Amino acid sequence: MAEDKPRLTTSAGAPVVDNQNSKTVGPQGPLLLEDYQLVEKLAHQNRERVPERIVHAKGWGAYGTFTVTHDISKYTRAKLFSEVGKKTEMLARFSTVAGEQGAADAERDVRGFALKFYTEEGNWDMVGNNTPVFFVADPYKFPDFIHTQKRHPKTNMRSPTAMWDFWSLCPESLHQVTILMSDRGLPVSPMHMNGYSSHTFSLWNANGERFWVKFHFKTQQGHKHFTNEEAESVIGKTRESYQEALFGSIEKGEFPKWTLKIQVMPEDEAEEFEKKTGWSAFDLTKVWPHDMYPLIEVGEMELNRNPDNYFADIEQSAFNPSNVVPGIGFSPDKMLQGRLFSYPDAHRYRIGTHYEALPVNKPRCPVHHYHRDGTMPFGLHTNPDAYYEPNSFGGPVEDKSFEEPPHKYAGTVGRHEFRANADHYSQPRALFEKVFDDAQRDRLFHNIAAAMGGVPEFIVERQLAHFKKVHPDYEAGIRQALKEQHGYEANTIAADGDAARAGVNAAE
Ligand code: NDP
Ligand code: HEM
Repeated sequence: MAEDKPRLTTSAGAPVVDNQNSKTVGPQGPLLLEDYQLVEKLAHQNRERVPERIVHAKGWGAYGTFTVTHDISKYTRAKLFSEVGKKTEMLARFSTVAGEQGAADAERDVRGFALKFYTEEGNWDMVGNNTPVFFVADPYKFPDFIHTQKRHPKTNMRSPTAMWDFWSLCPESLHQVTILMSDRGLPVSPMHMNGYSSHTFSLWNANGERFWVKFHFKTQQGHKHFTNEEAESVIGKTRESYQEALFGSIEKGEFPKWTLKIQVMPEDEAEEFEKKTGWSAFDLTKVWPHDMYPLIEVGEMELNRNPDNYFADIEQSAFNPSNVVPGIGFSPDKMLQGRLFSYPDAHRYRIGTHYEALPVNKPRCPVHHYHRDGTMPFGLHTNPDAYYEPNSFGGPVEDKSFEEPPHKYAGTVGRHEFRANADHYSQPRALFEKVFDDAQRDRLFHNIAAAMGGVPEFIVERQLAHFKKVHPDYEAGIRQALKEQHGYEANTIAADGDAARAGVNAAE
């Protein structure tokens, strides 16, 4: 054994004498079942994968530091924000949504923007996207939506027909579809995009006052995007362009940074906001306009350390929107409420019951609970008599000083229909008219037409009717691009809403 190298052992610690040759009867074989080393090696290989995430399977991540630059303690008692200059260790994982683990990085898709802040009062996970809104407004629709993004059950290929069928029947998706098909739908790297909580969360302060909040992480690298054609040539050369960019930049000591800003709405203003605008402050398909709720600067996030082991640090990372800390709370947004269940459930299935005890997920503060046993309960507390609660043997106890102010919810119980009378058009219109310039609008038309290749006419027309309601120029631009790219000529007047649904049935 070389002096300066550790001794190779079996996983039970016994020295390994030969790690090059199986144990055989004669030089050719057969093998012996007693060759435990070989059996262990092959068996371990069979268990090297865990299921990939059902969405956001392809990802890139790094560790970093969050530093407070502005005092927001009047809104929140969260220790993480308690004083200017305070630093908190954190982890970021960025991802695409639809592609599998081996998918190319430079694909048009929404990007996940998941952050874990290891605060002294527990982990705060900000599990957002690079877009401020989402495709659907009810968690009931999330599995259906994701089915349209994944592979068709028969062809095993992605299906533009399914995507546009769903989107055209769910016009609440228009805002997000417009962003996805705009420049921001294809950033050149994770460093060149913003992150948004998208949902409304809440902050609560030491006096028990609650404020509604949206989190915005603004890139300091600037926004940079690929056109579809540029992305095609990148993917032709490498499928890992995001990994190369993020990992490479941090290895070189060029640390990407984002500025955290928040929009804050006093708790009792939500009703007034709805009366004034017609939009719920908790509708995930809507933003809060900046002129009504200006951005307030909070701090800076810097990514400065590449993980040593991708699997242990990034693949096994598990983010939960339900991981909040005292001073941060939820909101009535039903999408958010659905996610509070979904993520921990996904992690228990994907990486195991005690996923939060894994090093990457483990809080950097003391953890005491009464969960017991199960697969691999490593690191659980060791007081042998305090294994139930209440007990007389010094087990951990609750602390009322962290009690959150009560939410003031009231209403009728039911499956409330929201889609029919909602305004799906004004905010995409503001984006189209006010934010995009002519060149961005042209690229938008081009990208949408490209994504509609092969989609049946009745679906294309139904979607064009929605674009027309956003802005006549939006519909006209896409129609022109469809003609140029696909020779598309149809000009039937499309129905929308229920009439369109009837159209689908007739076509079937
Ligand atoms: P503002 O003019 O104050 O804000 C416009 C926002 O649009 C900026 O935050 C800008 O981001 C962002 N933006 C620029 N290009 C794109 C793009 N291609 N895709 C998505 N966002 C882009 O207007 P309002 O607050 O009144 O919002 C107008 C519209 O802007 C909204 O309807 C919404 O579609 C979009 N928007 C609004 C946001 C909000 O929180 N209010 C956030 C993001 C988009 P940046 O500052 O990074 O340049
Ligand atoms: C990942 C569910 C909406 C952002 C996931 C995962 C599930 C899920 C099951 C995989 C988790 C894992 O295995 O680790 C849902 C449901 C939604 C929803 C049910 C709607 C009801 C959203 C929204 C956002 C979002 C609105 C952003 C605002 C993310 C991100 C990841 C993710 C960033 C990847 C996290 C990581 O990097 O590990 N989602 N999601 N999701 N979701 Fe959602």
